[in-house]
Parts: sequence; C-alpha cells; structure tokens
Amino acid sequence: MRQNLFILISAIVIVLVACSGSNNGVKNVMPAAAPAKSAKSAKSAKSLSLAAQVGQQMFFDRTLSGSGKMACATCHDPKFAYGPPNDLAVQLGGPTLTDGGARAVPSLRYKENTPAYADLLDNPDGISVPGPGGGFNWDGRANSLVEQAKIPLMDPHEMANTRPADVVAKIRTSTYAPLFLQAFGSTAFANTDAAFTNATAALQAFQLEDVSFHPYNSKFDLYAGNKIGGTLTVAESRGLNVFSDPKTGNCASCHYQGAGLNGSSALFTDFSYEAISVPRNPAIPANSDPAYFDMGVCGTIRTDHLPISTDAPNPFCGMFKAPSMRNVATRTTFFHNGVMHSLQQVIQFYNTRDTIPQIWYPTVGGVAKRVNDKNFPTYGLIKTQYVGGKVQKYNDLKAAYRTNIDTQLPLDGRAAGSAPPMSDQNVADLICFLGTLSDDYDPAKTPTSATCAN
Ligand code: HEC
Ligand code: HEC
Repeated sequence: MRQNLFILISAIVIVLVACSGSNNGVKNVMPAAAPAKSAKSAKSAKSLSLAAQVGQQMFFDRTLSGSGKMACATCHDPKFAYGPPNDLAVQLGGPTLTDGGARAVPSLRYKENTPAYADLLDNPDGISVPGPGGGFNWDGRANSLVEQAKIPLMDPHEMANTRPADVVAKIRTSTYAPLFLQAFGSTAFANTDAAFTNATAALQAFQLEDVSFHPYNSKFDLYAGNKIGGTLTVAESRGLNVFSDPKTGNCASCHYQGAGLNGSSALFTDFSYEAISVPRNPAIPANSDPAYFDMGVCGTIRTDHLPISTDAPNPFCGMFKAPSMRNVATRTTFFHNGVMHSLQQVIQFYNTRDTIPQIWYPTVGGVAKRVNDKNFPTYGLIKTQYVGGKVQKYNDLKAAYRTNIDTQLPLDGRAAGSAPPMSDQNVADLICFLGTLSDDYDPAKTPTSATCAN
C-alpha cells in the first residue's frame, strides 16, 4: 500500500514531500525532475532490431488467432494509446469473437520501466512503506512482457490458440517467416517451444523499442520540460494541484512516480496495488455467477496468492494495479472491470464512494421513488433513488476481505451524507489536468476546450 506522496510542481522543479503512514509528515526533498525526454529504449521505426520488426508484424497479424480475425492491435489499438477502441467493459474474443473476457483492456503505453512483481516492492518514492507492486496485468501475474504475451495468444477468451505450436505454424507460413529466421537463426523453427518463446520475445522487443509505446510528447511533458507550448491553463494548473494535494484529490499518492527508473519522465503510477472496491459490473459474463469474484492479486485468475481456504485471511484480496494516468483521457472504459465510462464518473466515485454510496452500489429492499429528488446526482451508476433498503456497499469484494480496502484520501471511509473531499470545481479541474497527459500534443493544433481555459 502506498501512503501519502504528494507533489508540488513549479516550472521544472518537482519537489516531492512524502508521508509514510497516513498522517506522519516525513519530509523529503527530491532532486529536480528529469526533463521530459524519450525513453532510453525508444528508437525510430527504422532502427527497430530484427526481433522488434518481427514483433511489429505479429502485433498486427490477425491470422495469429484461433478466429483468424483478432490481432493484439484489435484490443490494443494504436489510435487509442494501445488501449481499447470502444467503450465495451470487456472485449469480445475467442474462436468466434463472441466470448467476453473478464477484464478491461489496459493501455500498453509506458510499460517499459515496470519492475517485476514483488509482494514487498520498494516504492519508487523511496519513502513509502514497501507493498505489492510491479508486474503486468491488473493482478501483476506476469513478470515480463515476454511472459505476458503468452497469455493473450492462448487465452480462450482472447486470441484462443489451442497450442503454442499453432502460433508457430502460423508464423512459419506468414510473409515475415524469413524475417523470423533472420532474427532468430536459420533453424529457428526447428524447436516449437523455442520458436514460441522467441515469438513472445519479439512482441516484447516491439513494445520496448518502438517509440509509439512511449512517446513522452503530451502537454504535461512539454510543461515538465519547460518547453514551448507547455504552459498549463489556469484550470489545468488547479487540476494539477488537486491531483497532488493530500487533502483533496491525493491522486499522486498512488498515481505518480517522479523521474522514471531509467531517467524517463513521470509515469503517473507507482506500480502499486490497492483495494479500492469498485462496484461489481454485471456486463462481465463471469459475474452472472454470484459466487464468482475477481479478487485481483489473490485470485482466482492469478493463482499464487490464493487464500488457503474459503475466506481465510489474505491481505492481497481485492487488490488491483494502480494504472498510469497517461492517456487516460483517451479511454471510455475504466477500472479493471470496465464498470465506469467517463472520467467524471471515475473521479466522482473517488469523491463520493462513501458519502453517497447509493449511487455506486445497488440497494436491496427499498422502494424506488417515482421521481428522483432534484439533488440526486446523475453521474452515478445507479440512476434510481430508493427510500429505505440497504445499500450493497463494496459489492464486488467478499465481506471477509473488506478490511483490505485502502483508507487514504480521497477514499477515507467518511460517513454517508458527510461532505466529500473534492468540490465540483475540483473534479472539473482534475479532468482538465488529466487531459494534459494525452500524447501527441501539438500546441499549434490541439485546442484547449473552453471549460479548461480558466
Ligand atoms: C481480446 C482482447 C485482447 C487481445 C487480443 C490482446 N490483449 Fe493484451 N490485454 C487484454 C486484457 C483484458 C488485459 C488485462 C488482462 C488482465 O489483467 O488479466 C491485457 C493486458 C495486456 C498487457 C499488460 C498491460 C499492463 O498494464 O500490465 C500487455 C503487455 C498486453 N496485454 C499485450 C498484448 C499482446 C502483445 C497481445 C497480442 C499477442 C495482446 N495483448 C492481445 C486484452 C487483449
Ligand atoms: C489508494 C491509491 C489510489 C488513489 C489515492 C487513487 N487511485 Fe486511482 N486507482 C487506484 C487503483 C488501485 C486503481 C485500479 C482499481 C481497480 O481497477 O479495481 C485505480 C484506477 C484509476 C483509474 C482507472 C484507469 C484505467 O485505465 O482504467 C483512474 C482514471 C484513476 N484511478 C484516477 C484517479 C484519480 C483522478 C485519483 C485522485 C482523485 C485517484 N485515482 C486516486 C489507486 C488509487
């Protein structure tokens, strides 16, 4: 669990002040942030290694799936920062492209500095208490991009190959088979297991080397690098303050990392895992079984941290990765189960999960009002107001594991009906700030929306 880390940014100097434990101010001043620059591994398309060139071909190759119609890029669309191209909670894959998976598709950008998973990973801020961190997927079950790539190729809900040998056979008859041999040796198809591992290494090489996975060219990068065009508007600056302020948004305590491990600029994740108890999503097919719970690091998809018996104490249950905030404004589906569909909804969830729980979790036993009160919020997941009944708070985490829920601001468990930590203005400003984290910003061409101007 990451504790309060907050940032104050002025020009290019990023001063980090962090707390270990919720309220103890252990102050620490970090050196000036590295100016925005491309990751060390970033190369132009021309200089991709042979392995990365194979990976590039594979990434867009639909024939590599059981259906023959699904490539990595189908779900990880480069036009959407290698995230999903639509607002479906989960994408449809499998042999006939009709099987909904269990989780929302993450962006593949800015993964190049992700460390391997550890139960007690040192926080990149160097101060916060070590906790679960690192690794790939929402539950960290893959330690490298090589390990990760095997999963979608074989997953019956995704590319749905039945055997690694099927993938190798398809590469062998592809137009890029000669490139594969050039990259991995003239006998590279002789051993199927070795060929499959090389194929996944090729996918990793493409993701690590191609600059499109880590362009570091958002408005925030211009701002942090003190470059022309990098002036935040008044609303965006206020949003940055909310993001960093431990008394309102406090987003930076989980969604910020200063100078990257390899000298890259801020990644907007500290790779940590927390339980924040997002509402259950009925749109996920597996959730039609009331006994099914996706509990992240403790299972059931991940299998090395399972509770030793049903409901046995286990600190990892309910934890999911705090993803990077870069390019988050290009998404239309949010959280591991894709239950939310706008940034306003996500931020209001953080703001009012505890103060207005009835708009996030279903109520049982109440009587629906014919007309909602005027002040009943419209941004929640639940659109009907009830009189009486019981709100099924934290309905996607088994009761035995609700003590794992993180308690730092803005999700500090305050009483229903009390004032939320952020004002509506704070929420609007935060949305403006998050918009500055989208790549391919061009000061001459990207207009600032009127709502974010001042
Ligand atoms: C059917 C949609 C789909 C396809 C096709 C797909 N993925 Fe994914 N990808 C996902 C989902 C969903 C997750 C999250 C899985 C989880 O948390 O268990 C994911 C996670 C990842 C991650 C981890 C990202 C992170 O934030 O940790 C990487 C890397 C990745 N995919 C690469 C690939 C590659 C390479 C391919 C092609 C071989 C591919 N994916 C094909 C849906 C897809
Ligand atoms: C206690 C740590 C913590 C804090 C504080 C926090 N987050 Fe998160 N955030 C997470 C975790 C963990 C997830 C993934 C949860 C899940 O999917 O179950 C997440 C997910 C998100 C997502 C979804 C991203 C995606 O790709 O689907 C957004 C957006 C987000 N957070 C924004 C914010 C903002 C804005 C703030 C401040 C108001 C904030 N977070 C504060 C831990 C935190």
